[in-house]
Amino acid sequence: MQISKGSTDYRIYRILSEKQASGEKLGKELGITRTAVWKAVQKLKENSIQIESDANGYRIIGEKELNPYMVARIAFENGFEEIHFYDVIDSTNTRAREYGKPNVLFFANRQTAGRGRHGRRWVSDEGGLYFSITLSPPLDYTDLPKLTLIAGLSVAESIPDTEIKWPNDVLINGRKVCGILSELHGEVERPLVIIGIGINVENPAPENGISVSELFDISRKEVFELVLRNFSKNYRMLLNGSWNELRKEIERRCSTIGKKVRVVTSSDVIEGIAESIAEDGSLVVNGRKIYAGDCIHLR
Ligand code: BTN
Repeated sequence: MQISKGSTDYRIYRILSEKQASGEKLGKELGITRTAVWKAVQKLKENSIQIESDANGYRIIGEKELNPYMVARIAFENGFEEIHFYDVIDSTNTRAREYGKPNVLFFANRQTAGRGRHGRRWVSDEGGLYFSITLSPPLDYTDLPKLTLIAGLSVAESIPDTEIKWPNDVLINGRKVCGILSELHGEVERPLVIIGIGINVENPAPENGISVSELFDISRKEVFELVLRNFSKNYRMLLNGSWNELRKEIERRCSTIGKKVRVVTSSDVIEGIAESIAEDGSLVVNGRKIYAGDCIHLR
């Protein structure tokens, strides 16, 4: 389902999240008929919002799990304009690419064809977080990889005891808790950037992976809200020219630095000590800059 900021159902959800209100009052506040209010309330009910009504009007009762409207609230508070929520879908990155508009968030409870980097599969069972955001940033083409790096930073800032494996895997105790797949779509002058984030939260983690819930008592909602908040903060910093500060924070959290690594790029295999994250976001290995590749920590 699709939710936009100005839709009647979303506006009613926001009012009822704050207070109990009658159909008449809601109608007056939004300038719509009581029938329109009733229809919107039915839509909320059909989409996992528990609403009770008594003599004082409608009220929302207990919202425990992440529901479409909660996802929408968190997304809208962090600069997005529209959300698409699916219980099950092939891949949120694929949906985002097909839709082709910026500032939209695609969220799924499960994916049947979750995609990872380098053509790999991303197992997307219930309990994990799977979402993609679309942006059309006013940045130079060569600066776009920085967005992927700040996405990794944002996840690392949101979950305790994490480290970043260059370019943007997030690990706990050397095991992967989050993967990020960034894709570009459209014109080179102003491409659509799609950042897909998969986080093992309450799902059983695949081999060599780890789930947040194995170690911490943090819900999907909390992780999702923190990641979006941190991403929006870091994105603003990037656009405001604070890249160097972000780069230092990424470098500080990046466990690849100082390790012996093997990086497989599209044309080469480079082995050596990872020295730093350069000003342009590349990984420096033996004095050589690497812009993209699959990185293995050797020791
Ligand atoms: C990786 O290989 O580490 C990247 C995994 C990215 C998975 C996420 S889940 C949401 C989005 N939709 C996809 O199909 N992939 C990304």
